Order: sequence, then structure tokens, then C-alpha cells
Amino acid sequence: MTVSNYLANSCRRAWVALPLAGFLVSGCFGDGRQSTIRPASDVGHAVQAVYSVVTWIDIGIFIVVFGLLIVALIRFRGGKEGEMPKQVHGNPVMEILWTLVPAVLLIFIAVPTWSTIFLTANPPKENAVHVLAIGKQWWWEFEYVDSGVVTGNELHVPVNRPIVITTRSTDVIHSFWVPRLSGKIDSLPGKDNVLWFTPQEKGVFYGQCAEYCGTSHANMRFRVIVEDEADYEKWLASVTQPPVPQTAEAKEGEQLFLAKACVACHTITGVPGAVGKVGPNLTNLGARSSIASATIENTPQNLAAWIHDSRSIKPGVLMILPLPVSVEEAGKLAAYLTSPTGPAPGAPAPQGGATLNMKQPPAGAAAAAGGGLDGKTLFLTKGCTGCHTVQSLPLARGTIGPALDGLQARPRIAAGVLPNTEANLKRWIKDPPSVKPGTLMVKLGLSDAEVETIVAFLKTL
Ligand code: CUA
Repeated sequence: MTVSNYLANSCRRAWVALPLAGFLVSGCFGDGRQSTIRPASDVGHAVQAVYSVVTWIDIGIFIVVFGLLIVALIRFRGGKEGEMPKQVHGNPVMEILWTLVPAVLLIFIAVPTWSTIFLTANPPKENAVHVLAIGKQWWWEFEYVDSGVVTGNELHVPVNRPIVITTRSTDVIHSFWVPRLSGKIDSLPGKDNVLWFTPQEKGVFYGQCAEYCGTSHANMRFRVIVEDEADYEKWLASVTQPPVPQTAEAKEGEQLFLAKACVACHTITGVPGAVGKVGPNLTNLGARSSIASATIENTPQNLAAWIHDSRSIKPGVLMILPLPVSVEEAGKLAAYLTSPTGPAPGAPAPQGGATLNMKQPPAGAAAAAGGGLDGKTLFLTKGCTGCHTVQSLPLARGTIGPALDGLQARPRIAAGVLPNTEANLKRWIKDPPSVKPGTLMVKLGLSDAEVETIVAFLKTL
């Protein structure tokens, strides 16, 4: 290939690349739901002001430098063959100019940058909503510090009030980022970071984990719903009450939720026994616009598909597979989980009348509480299978906790915390957090008799 051919080819490629680059840049504009240059908060506007200053200064530098370069190329291009241009050495005026001008420009960039860094690093103390954002593989848990409300993947906040986000991680490093509301901040295991912003527009804002954290990093999304103070308060109240199933399908779903392994990993406020911490809190799931870490919309079909086979939707998800739930059962569970929330069992009735007793424990659970079930049945129905594998039980294929075959032969339990004696095993199963604070193993609220029966079963493995 000759040099001129090569250059011609390169030029053609450049013409193809140009619109492609345009498309990429248009990602910043477009509908712009994750645009960094369409801020909707005070901090967002402050950061954009710095961005604008730097961009305009850069454009000025570009025009001057390339302008001079083009002038030089034309004015001082080669003359006749063998003829040298005029030779010079040094130019004090030019040297002073190209030192002073950049120094002045740097001051114009540095001062607004510094003041914005101080602004973003100092959250307002008045009237702020404090939220703990905990990054987990691969979803976000949000805890409202003042009310203790815990939710997952969709953060509701009131408009025009400062939102102070403290980030943390329980596994690897993640990064909290809602491009239209704030900058990024890492969520680290063992160290808290703080970020704040005051949302100035109502609407739904799209967030994204911005630090590579494993298989489903790209699926670790979330949404921030900015709403009126009244709507925010209404939502906050709705997630302190359990779902109240309205249809026969939803009522069956409730029994399935308690009988299958769901409660080992998920919490629903007001539902005794549903206190799992491994997966997201599911209280008032019906109010969420999305599921599966904001990767799909929350429709009945999507929710049932997700419950039935989550791994086909989000690779690497810890929700166990195969979850022993048929497509039909998944539909019932979805109906239960999206039921409107109402007063918890035993809560005072609104008009001082009879107590609203909408949530009878399922018949199976009642029988179990009364004893009489063997250890294997208890193991299968109390949520243990959500996290543990036992080879002889096809339904026990959980991978969150240790496999339990050969437990009897192990010298220690609870990751080496306790010697493997019968008394210690009972103590561990009865109340895991009291043995090992922070453990993902939940206190299932088992009776002493149930613990004894399960331990007897475990010793046979
Ligand atoms: Cu979490 Cu990337």
C-alpha cells in the first residue's frame, strides 16, 4: 500500500468514526436520564458551574493554540528548495506571556474548584434527611437513620430538603452514583463515606453502581424518587406495615412466603419470622416501580419470572436456584408481595373496635410451632434451605451459608467461633447474632423444642 493510499483510507475511516463519536457524545444529551450535564440538585448545579468554567477556558486555549499553529504552518512554510527561514533565538515577551497566561487561567480554575470541593464536603445540618446506603453484591440497601425504615433499590426523598447519604459496603467496594443529583462516592467495607445533595426537581432519577464489583456490577442499579414532602411521608408510613393480601391468590402467596425459604433472606416489617438480612427488605414491594436492582419494571409478569428464575435475569444473583417454586407459585408469591400494606397483626383497630386480625399464621407453621414435626421437615420449612446445601435433600441447594454434610465431624462451628458441641450448636441456631455479631444467619424465632429437633437431624448428615 502506498503512503497516499494509506492516508486516503485513514481519512475515510475518520469520516465513519465522526458520526459514531457524535452518537456517543449525544448520550450526554438525548433523554439524558443519566446525564451529568442536566443537574437537578444544588450540588449538581455547583459541580456543573465548575465544569462550565473549565470547558470555556479549554475552548479558549484550543482556539488560541490551534489558531497560532495554523498561522505558523501557513506563514512559515518552506520557501524555495535549500532556502532557510530567518533563524532567531529567544523571545522574552513570548516567554513571559506563556508563563503568566496559564498561571492566571489556573487560578480561575482552582478557586471555583476549591470552593465546590468544600461545599460538597460539608453537608448541611438543618432539616436534612439522613440515609445509610449499603452496597451489596449486587443491590443497594437504604436505611433511613431517623425512622429506622429499611428499603432496597428505590430511595424515596422529599424535594428541596438536603439528603445526606452515608455509604458503606458489606462485601467489596461499590460506588453510589446518581448522575443528575450528585457526584460519585465509593461505598467501602469498614469505612463510611458521606455525600449530600438537595434535589430541586420532582421525578425519578436513575442511579448506578460506578465501581466494578463482580458479575452483576452492570445490573447494580437503583432509582431515586424525588417527591413532595406529603407523598414522601405517605410512602414512609406505608413501609412500616406488612402487606395485607386481598385475593385468594395473594393469601396462598402469603403461606408460600412463610413456608418456602424466602424468610431466611428477606424481611417484611410486621411479619413474624420474616427477618432475613441477606436480600432486600420487601415491605411494600408493590410501591416499587422496578425490581431486580432496578433492572426490570415491577409488573406482575416480571415479578413472577424473577421469583421463578432470577438467575436468567441477573447473572450471579445470590437468590437461590433452583428455588423450589413453580411458575404458578411464583405468581401467587408476586400477588402477595405486591398487596397493599396495612396494620400489622395485633395493632389497635382504627375505631377502637375488634382487632383487625387479617394475618393468621399458615396452618403448616401453626402445626410446626406446636411441635410434632421431624427435624428434616423443620429444616425444609424453616428457611434453612435458602442458604444451605444438603446433598440428600434436592430442595436444599443454598450457597450463601456453608454446606452442612459432615457437620458432625467438624471440630468447630460458626466459622470457628465455637467448639462443635450439641449445646453450642443449639445456641448458634437459636440466636446466631448473639454468637457472631453481624452474621447473615438470621434468628428464625425457633422454639427450644424445634432447635433440638433440627440439631438431632443435623447430626445425622
Ligand atoms: Cu457494586 Cu459495581
